[in-house]
Amino acid sequence: MATIGIFFGSSSGVTRKVAELLANEFSGAQLIDMEEDFDGIEQFEEFDVLLLGSSTWGQGDPQRDWVDPLFDLSNDSPDLSGKKVAFFGAGDQKTHGEHFLSALGKMDDLFLSLGADVYGYTSTAGYDYKFSLAQRGDKFCGLGIDDVNQEELTQERVIAWANQLKNEMGL
Ligand SMILES: Cc1cc2nc3c(=O)[nH]c(=O)nc-3n(C[C@H](O)[C@H](O)[C@H](O)COP(=O)(O)O)c2cc1C
Repeated sequence: MATIGIFFGSSSGVTRKVAELLANEFSGAQLIDMEEDFDGIEQFEEFDVLLLGSSTWGQGDPQRDWVDPLFDLSNDSPDLSGKKVAFFGAGDQKTHGEHFLSALGKMDDLFLSLGADVYGYTSTAGYDYKFSLAQRGDKFCGLGIDDVNQEELTQERVIAWANQLKNEMGL
């Protein structure tokens, strides 16, 4: 059975909520709060599957608890070949539509450069924003949650994505 780590950074609780909903969908998955539980980038090696969650802040930046880990990954360049990875995160398409979910795009670029296999791209249909570094053609490079403007869609989006990952990753 594949081991699953759900790593999340969340400042006001939205990405945490998504991480907890995901944990309900993947029995045995371990939740790692980047602020409280993260020890270092070796922790990514402990799992077969990494579900990585970050909200977007500033000008499209990852949530603050991700800054050092992402720097360390890009500095140390560990080989993540064969690691199954997927990204999720929260943003605000209305007030911050000039960089909606952009943190996920930065994480996707980095993990792909380290050899990870990235899953869980989702359609951009149903979102209205100006620009996103997380956009790849007509998809986002992961699950985008906008709990500020579309709270009513959060739970169904999470459950649909969990089912997509189970299929894509063969879990
Ligand atoms: C100062 C500030 C800057 C923000 N910048 C962005 C941004 O660039 N892109 C985006 O999609 N959302 C942006 N947001 C919205 C947050 O990402 C959103 O509120 C999210 O739900 C927070 O999730 P969290 O509670 O998991 O941290 C910003 C919010 C604030 C208050």
